[in-house]
Amino acid sequence: MDLSEALYTTRAMRRVKPDPVPEAVVRQMLDAAIRAPSGGNSQTWRFITITEPGVKSRLGDLYRQAFATLQGTVYKEANERARAAGDEQAARILRSSRWLADHFEEVPLWFFVYTRNDPDGANIFPAVWNLMLAGRGCGIGTCLTTILGHFKPAEVAAVLEVPSERGWELKAAVSAGYPTGRWGTAKRNPVHPIVYAESWGTPVPWTVDEPMWVEPEAYGT
Ligand SMILES: Cc1cc2nc3c(=O)[nH]c(=O)nc-3n(C[C@H](O)[C@H](O)[C@H](O)COP(=O)(O)O)c2cc1C
Repeated sequence: MDLSEALYTTRAMRRVKPDPVPEAVVRQMLDAAIRAPSGGNSQTWRFITITEPGVKSRLGDLYRQAFATLQGTVYKEANERARAAGDEQAARILRSSRWLADHFEEVPLWFFVYTRNDPDGANIFPAVWNLMLAGRGCGIGTCLTTILGHFKPAEVAAVLEVPSERGWELKAAVSAGYPTGRWGTAKRNPVHPIVYAESWGTPVPWTVDEPMWVEPEAYGT
């Protein structure tokens, strides 16, 4: 796949089919993940692949609890504001993330990603993004989630027998499967207003009014 296509169309694809992800694809994704940079090439990462229904069921319960906590605290006011303003994009994201919580066990594959000596995640997120890009190249939809690491780290560590006492911390859980929907360019605010030339606040002398990678016609079918 063309690099720009992967960069522009790797987005949160939460709704996936239950069909298993072939082992060759899992290997490809993980081998791409560990090509990512890390400070001093420290490579302090561990990935746990989760496919077993029993394990998914225990993690799914924890995920739903974490989701409820998030929606009832951090996102509460923002959700209410978005609802009052009729913000359709915010409503779509909420519906989609709720789908993932409600269908956690139906997602065929989850990657639980651990790191240590990496409080801000700077060493692990490049690897997570490589994992997701490699998935995109294989037609696998992924979604990066962090709520379990924020709200249920100890409970997850107990399920997965993680040696937390040695400093391993859950930074991400990435869902993976074949998407039910279509791929498309990630919708973002335009780039030029948030780039400055030489000093803070000085506009750049250019604009980008449309995404610079253009979807082939087949995307619309
Ligand atoms: C640091 C981080 C944490 C995220 N955590 C969650 C999460 O816990 N649950 C979830 O459903 N999506 C999560 N997401 C996905 C974002 O909601 C998603 O990337 C964003 O809405 C853009 O969606 P799009 O790429 O489909 O346009 C997370 C993304 C990032 C980068």
